[in-house]
Amino acid sequence: GTPLNVQLCAKYKRSFAYITMKDRLPIILTQVIDHMSREKENIVNEYGKGALEELKIAIGKISKLKNELQTNKPLILLEGNASDVTIWNAFLKQLKDEEGNDPRWFHSAWLATECYMYRRLREAFELTDTLTSFDPFRSKKQAALLDSLGTINVLCTYVKRLVEQQNCHCSTDIKNEFMKLLYVDLWGNRCDLSLSGGEKVLMEEDPLQKIGQLTEYILIDEAEKVWNTLAVNREKSDVIVDMVLDNAGYELYTDLCLADLLVTFSLASQVRFRAKVLPWYVSDVCIPDFQWTLQILSNSENSEVSALANRWLGHMKSGKWVLCADEFWTLPHVFNQMQNVDPTLYQELSNAVLMIIKGDLNYRKLTGDINWEPTKPFSEALSGFRPTNIAALRTLKADTICGLLAGQAEDTAAKSSEWLISGQYAVVQYSSL
Ligand code: F6P
Ligand code: MG
Repeated sequence: GTPLNVQLCAKYKRSFAYITMKDRLPIILTQVIDHMSREKENIVNEYGKGALEELKIAIGKISKLKNELQTNKPLILLEGNASDVTIWNAFLKQLKDEEGNDPRWFHSAWLATECYMYRRLREAFELTDTLTSFDPFRSKKQAALLDSLGTINVLCTYVKRLVEQQNCHCSTDIKNEFMKLLYVDLWGNRCDLSLSGGEKVLMEEDPLQKIGQLTEYILIDEAEKVWNTLAVNREKSDVIVDMVLDNAGYELYTDLCLADLLVTFSLASQVRFRAKVLPWYVSDVCIPDFQWTLQILSNSENSEVSALANRWLGHMKSGKWVLCADEFWTLPHVFNQMQNVDPTLYQELSNAVLMIIKGDLNYRKLTGDINWEPTKPFSEALSGFRPTNIAALRTLKADTICGLLAGQAEDTAAKSSEWLISGQYAVVQYSSL
């Protein structure tokens, strides 16, 4: 496996990084190629006649990318003049200096190589005339949303009643409801499409009922502290909560449910959603995904689902909810480099009372993607990144963890050898400013 205190890397053959590089990423690229070949006609209908030729060229580029990965070629510089190209290429050059060699897929830090794959995939469309807005994962994300409608209906009934009858709730009630929706949101992170390869993730019928049974799988639970931060600022003006989004589909729905509770019960005056600027790790939310999600739901045949979605569109209009897409989230940098790479974003986050960070990849970036001693304190693993109070909600899907009690890693490993990567276990971790 990976030595302690170094970044995860595919050169360690018994790591999930290696499996990802060898098996998962080539499959994801193959699926993109297949999708584009299969949907050629539909794509041309949507993007215009010129798209046919450019689609073929893009397919060629993606095949080449897959080949570079599988044969462990050097990571070549990005092309074009998109605003992040300079930052990316500087990063790649620095990596080369640090490693004393050309960075390569199976030799360099896993975080860097995997992020790079999604950025190169984007390049295949970015440099065209007709396909610049093409998202090779869009239909997967949409299918995932439709697949989870049953669960969404159940959750919707609950949340709609909660937010509409807001007057009857004392502070203990609000806390209980907050906790419930926080856990629903946490477990919503089980459903990313890069791990399942787009296979249907079995959804719970009633996610609220499941919370109790899942408690034992939460290895660290600092939800109380998250609540306390919000409770002391309740009813104040200018209480901003940033939510760094992860996956579209059911997880996004659970994010929105929690965010509705925050603004409805005056725990936040504004929630800012942080989306990605490019298709990322298959299922991550980009601006259009956020928009079609609300659109599809507001047109739902289920009148409760459409009413709740319309309420959410109202939050967008009134400015209680704000949708942002920042370049930083799709750079290869870990979060403790944000202050240098994107000081403006860091400053913005500093104006929030709380930053909720969703999902596995964001957690990896937050804690440096290092194979920490499992008992390494969470706030130390942030390595200086502290724009504000931080809450990380993550189901475990990569071989890094911190903040556990002594013996806890060993005990959990004895129960399940795949505990770090299966998404079965979760953490709610908190670090105060
Ligand atoms: O492939 C890397 C990885 O971080 C996995 O560990 C995880 O399965 C996936 O990407 C993304 O998970 P999430 O959507 O929770 O960030
Ligand atoms: Mg994701």
